Amino acid sequence: MKALKVSSDTSALEVPAVLDESGRLAPACVNSALAMMDRHGLVILTGLLSNSEAATGLDLMRRTITDPDRSHSAFASETDNRYLRRDFCSLPSSPEVIGFAAMLAQRLEGVLGEYCGRTRPLLEVATFTSYRGSSHQYIHRDPMGVISLFAAVEDVSAEQGGTVFVPGTHMYGGADNRHGGGAYGQMELLRTRWNARIFRHNLAKVWGMRKDAATPLAPGEFRDRVFSAQWDQHQPNLLRYLTGKNAQFSLRHLGPRTLWRLLRQRRLLDERFPLVQTAPRKGSVILYRSDLLHAGPDNRSLQPRRFFGMSIARDVIEHKYWHDGYSPHPTLTAQPLTFGDLLAAEPLRVPTTAPALRSPALAD
Ligand SMILES: [Fe+2]
Repeated sequence: MKALKVSSDTSALEVPAVLDESGRLAPACVNSALAMMDRHGLVILTGLLSNSEAATGLDLMRRTITDPDRSHSAFASETDNRYLRRDFCSLPSSPEVIGFAAMLAQRLEGVLGEYCGRTRPLLEVATFTSYRGSSHQYIHRDPMGVISLFAAVEDVSAEQGGTVFVPGTHMYGGADNRHGGGAYGQMELLRTRWNARIFRHNLAKVWGMRKDAATPLAPGEFRDRVFSAQWDQHQPNLLRYLTGKNAQFSLRHLGPRTLWRLLRQRRLLDERFPLVQTAPRKGSVILYRSDLLHAGPDNRSLQPRRFFGMSIARDVIEHKYWHDGYSPHPTLTAQPLTFGDLLAAEPLRVPTTAPALRSPALAD
């Protein structure tokens, strides 16, 4: 476990949310958030939701999580989803869910609108829950050209698996020229190094769970997580590791040249690309560029970790590519929505004091 210890100090990535009279992020706050997005690829807007708004979001999520007919996401990780280590599922386009998404989109219009035009599609609205026994995702990039949002509807501790990010690893014109040239190659090296650690961590964890009364393995779970031929990119699957069939991490990532470069550059990589694990307080909202390196860690606590999430495209997006990384609810597929639709929709109104008009100590 020690090998995966990273800093939880996110103060350099945070902007306290301040709203204007219309309930949108104030211009100075928008500028600070955009500067963070440009520099780090993400921003954490603290106090964007009041306690009662966060509670409303949690209630919407609970309604879906307890629905036996909920629509599961088709990625990251399917095996965890199957064995209820994770419960990643899309939320239906009910008036309440769309109202909640509209409230967020309208409040964040100054930031989101810098990236996403009004005609760009809402790719998914989802809830991401992880439980004890889940696997640690490999460090990865989501399909590019998307802005994603995680809203903490309750306090999330690092132990519960707040998302890990590698600030500054987002991709844009000329970004590869940084750090003396070849920045992307260095990022890939860093990714390989961390993913090797994650592979060992996940393997040791599943092995330990065979005799762990607190987190017992389900029948067939060990086989499916370690030896299955099924596609799943976030398990410590030895078979797919050895045959090079895991695009995130496998033996083919560890050639002699890579190992030599890793040995020579290990300190440099740590200095240039330090990882940070978020532990957002209730009401915080994380915005990140989908091309930023990140991972959803395993939950090492007894408390489930839950996030509300939604993603909006920044550009035209090919259908298959969209579905590789995002799982729209069937109701959203049947009736697609754009960023402009969210800006025009009636936002959910939760009785509360506007965040701009109160100090954090007075939050309801
Ligand atoms: Fe991801």
